[in-house]
Parts: sequence; structure tokens; C-alpha cells
Amino acid sequence: MLVARVNQFFYSPTHTTQKIVTSIGAGIGIDPMNLIENNFTYPEYADTIINVEPKDLVIIGAPVYAGRIAITAIERLKTMKFAGNLAVLVAVYGNRHYDDALIDLREVAISLGLHPLAAAAFVGEHSYSTRDFPIAKGRPDAEDKKLAISFGEKIAKKLRALKSAKDLPTLELPGTFPLPERPVLGPAHAETMPNKCIKCGDCQTACPTGAIFYKNAYKTTPELCNLCCACVKACKRRARVIVSEHIPQIRENLSQTCADRKQPEIFI
Ligand SMILES: Cc1cc2nc3c(=O)[nH]c(=O)nc-3n(C[C@H](O)[C@H](O)[C@H](O)COP(=O)(O)O)c2cc1C
Repeated sequence: MLVARVNQFFYSPTHTTQKIVTSIGAGIGIDPMNLIENNFTYPEYADTIINVEPKDLVIIGAPVYAGRIAITAIERLKTMKFAGNLAVLVAVYGNRHYDDALIDLREVAISLGLHPLAAAAFVGEHSYSTRDFPIAKGRPDAEDKKLAISFGEKIAKKLRALKSAKDLPTLELPGTFPLPERPVLGPAHAETMPNKCIKCGDCQTACPTGAIFYKNAYKTTPELCNLCCACVKACKRRARVIVSEHIPQIRENLSQTCADRKQPEIFI
């Protein structure tokens, strides 16, 4: 099957998913003019999303939160219109596990009328990784990106051999199906330490949910914070911290139990 364009969609608060999705897109080998990026990380995403045409291949990437696709990504995807496209599904996780995330993404894709062609789980630096407690630090690295490009090449090969989207069998993926109830995150949220904050506003720009506002100081609406750590990583003064009695322990445990390098897994 010939595809006219590759329409890449990603939700990526700390930018690791973005790196993987665009590396996969590059590997497909289509004219760069027809390689489109749709970043739906920020609240104004709806103004920038390009229309999807029936002959486009769609790549959708989002991070894994508590073994599922981040809920903000799912909610935003459900607002989008697709055109019965072939789709590549990508979950990026922080070297613990992706659990049911690919099934989560597959089910949403099907409900949106998409035809899953291939899927993959790649590793990105964990949102909770710090200098003292590194978790998958620096990933995706050059080796991950090489594997993402090679996955793109395999997708191109599969497309060349495919006669029609109707010929595709259900994409079998690891995880629990039917999906169990979604785990609840928190209660926790990120906050600003006023003694460290220089009021540059980088945290507000980085926040994917508009949770940070300015009123004499940068503050957070706790219910809007999805714990993505985009603000924590964007703050050069380390003035943004997650207010939670559990996170420091979770971070320390993860840096010990998830120290072994996990490799990307592809399903095609
Ligand atoms: C609230 C939350 C929950 C997470 N849960 C998991 C998880 O269950 N398994 C895992 O390996 N990584 C987990 N991570 C790490 C992210 O999946 C990982 O850092 C990913 O690369 C972030 O993608 P992004 O850079 O595109 O935002 C979690 C991160 C956050 C913020």
C-alpha cells in the first residue's frame, strides 16, 4: 500500500516520546515534506493539528503512567478526527515496564476507526529520574534511536507488502485484555519553592495541562497537575518539586530495581 504522508502524533511532556516517534517516522523513508509532526502535549494542541487524509499513515506515541497510557493523551486523542488510517502505536516507558499501555493505545486507536499496523514499546528517561537517583538516564540514546529508525524501515516494508487495510489481522500485543480499571495516581502535585524560584516562567510554558498560574508567585492548581514532571525538568533552579510523601521512596526504589537496561520491543 502506498501512503501519501506520515502523520506523527505525540504527547510528550519530557520529550522522550517525541524523540522516538520522530526517529520511527524518519526510518519510514518518506519525502520529509510529507512527514508531519502533530505535538498534542500542550493545551493549545487543537489549533495546530493537521487534518488527516485517508491515505496518511498515522504514528501515535505517548508515555506510560502507572502501566497505562497517560490519561491526558487518551483524552486528547479522543477529541481528534481520523480517516480510517493505518496506525503505528508507540508507548514510551521509564525502564520499569509498560504493562497494559499498548493494549490501552490499541483499544483507543480502534475506537477512533484506526487500523493498527504495528506497535512498539521504547524506553525513555524516567520522569522521576534525578542526578542522585538516575532511572534510564539519557534515554532514548543513540542505540534506541537506531532501533527506532530500523523499526520505521520494517514498517515501510510491511506497507509495501500490504494490499489493503482489511487484510490486517488484529495486532496481538502483551498486556491484560479486557483492560483492568485504570490505576489512580496521587494524591500529589508539583509545587514551586519560592526561595529558589526566579520567576522565569519556564515551568508554566512546560506544563501540558495549564496547571501552573502566576499570582505574586508561580502556583499550581493541584487537580490539573498530572505529575508528568515537565515543570520539574524544565526548572533550571530546581525550584519545582513534587509534593508527596511517597515519590522520594518510589524514585529511590526505581533507581535500584530498574537499573538494568531494558531493550525496545516491537510488534509487527
Ligand atoms: C505519573 C508517572 C507514572 C509513570 N509510570 C511508569 C510506569 O508504570 N512504568 C515505567 O516504566 N515508567 C513510568 N513512568 C515514566 C515515563 O513513562 C517515562 O519517563 C517516559 O519516558 C516519559 O515520556 P515523555 O518524556 O514523553 O514525557 C511514569 C512517569 C510518570 C510521570
